[in-house]
Amino acid sequence: MSSILFVCLGNICRSPSAEGFLRAALVGAGASERFTLDSAGTGGWHAGEPPDPRAIRAAADVGVDLSDLRARQVRPSDFTRFDLILAMDRQNLTDLTRLAPAGSTARLLLYREAAFGEAKDVADPYYGGAADFAACADLCAKASRRLVERYAAPHAANG
Ligand code: 4NP
Repeated sequence: MSSILFVCLGNICRSPSAEGFLRAALVGAGASERFTLDSAGTGGWHAGEPPDPRAIRAAADVGVDLSDLRARQVRPSDFTRFDLILAMDRQNLTDLTRLAPAGSTARLLLYREAAFGEAKDVADPYYGGAADFAACADLCAKASRRLVERYAAPHAANG
C-alpha cells in the first residue's frame, strides 16, 4: 500500500484535481486498492468546501468527478501518514518544508518533478478562467498517467 497527498494553496483547484485524476487513472489501471490518496492546502480558508465549481466542471468535461472532495488544511500527522507528499508549485514545496515537523518521514516532491522530471509549477487557475481550469485538468490527466507508470506499474520503482 502506498499513500500520496497532493498539496496546493487552497485545496480547491489544483490539488483536488491531481487527486481526482490520479484516482481515475489508478481505477483504469486496476491499481486503486493499492493506494491511499488525499489532498490538502497549506492554507485553511476553504476548509470543508468542495472544489471550485470551475475545477469540478473542467474535470467533469473529461469524465472525472471531483464533487465529493472536501478541502482541508495540511496537518502535522500528514508528514508521517503519507509516503509521498506532492506539492503543486514551488511555493507550496517551500511551505511544506517549513511546516514539516521533526520526525517527518514523508518524501516531499514537486508534482511535475515526480511526473515528468521537470522542476516546474502547476499554474494556479484560481484567478483565471475556464481555459486555465481546462489546462490544469489536462496537465493533471497527463501527469496521472505518468504517475501510474512510475508508482503503480508492475515494474514501478516506488521511489
Ligand atoms: P489552489 O487555488 O491552491 O489550486 O486551490 C487557490 C484557491 C484559493 C485561493 C488561492 C489559490 N485563495 O486565495 O482563496
